[in-house]
Amino acid sequence: MITYKNAELIIDKYDYCTSMNIGEYKNIDFLMYQKEIIEILSCLNKDKVMLEWGCGGSTLFFSQYCKNLYSIESNRSWYTNIKNKLEKSKYENVKIIHESGEKYTKSVDEINEIFDVVFIDGIYRGKCLNYLVKSDKINENTIIFIHDSLKYKNQIINSIKHFDIQKEIKVFWKPEPDGKEDIEHMIVLKRKKNV
Ligand SMILES: C[S@@+](CC[C@H](N)C(=O)[O-])C[C@H]1O[C@@H](n2cnc3c(N)ncnc32)[C@H](O)[C@@H]1O
Repeated sequence: MITYKNAELIIDKYDYCTSMNIGEYKNIDFLMYQKEIIEILSCLNKDKVMLEWGCGGSTLFFSQYCKNLYSIESNRSWYTNIKNKLEKSKYENVKIIHESGEKYTKSVDEINEIFDVVFIDGIYRGKCLNYLVKSDKINENTIIFIHDSLKYKNQIINSIKHFDIQKEIKVFWKPEPDGKEDIEHMIVLKRKKNV
């Protein structure tokens, strides 16, 4: 008998998006599950402004569904790789910013926008979330996604009290057919009022 959990395991194993074709981009690494992608996508439309920490296939994909997307990336070669792909495309609503150290979080202040959606998927996930606690670049309607939130729980634990958890997206998977079961976890947050 295939239990609900087993069915999830089977489906999610094939659900992992690696090297997918994203519109005009071919063979782009997109290291997310469909369930997670759908969750973010459902918060976007052509009026929404998105901020992302950690660029990649997500940048190329989500920028096609929002007004503007700003992505901050710490790794220079990865930044160059994604920037080159963007430059060859027709999309002009995406800006990738290469920053590391303190400016990785602080460069957000130089962007003249209020963000509707924030996706935290790069280095320093805890620092990024902590930065949002006092930032005037978001408000209580801003939807914040933290990818791999279980893996980074020690980084985010101190700031999480300033946010309400809206949803937890869990994907069960096995790296190998007989491998140990693992969970991919993404949380969806909104900042509490009057923090
Ligand atoms: C796991 S990736 C996810 C990026 C993106 N949000 C996505 O879903 O496609 C997070 C970080 O890994 C780093 N990275 C370096 N080389 C990479 C590569 N070849 N593929 C993916 N990420 C890479 C980048 O610094 C990037 O910010």
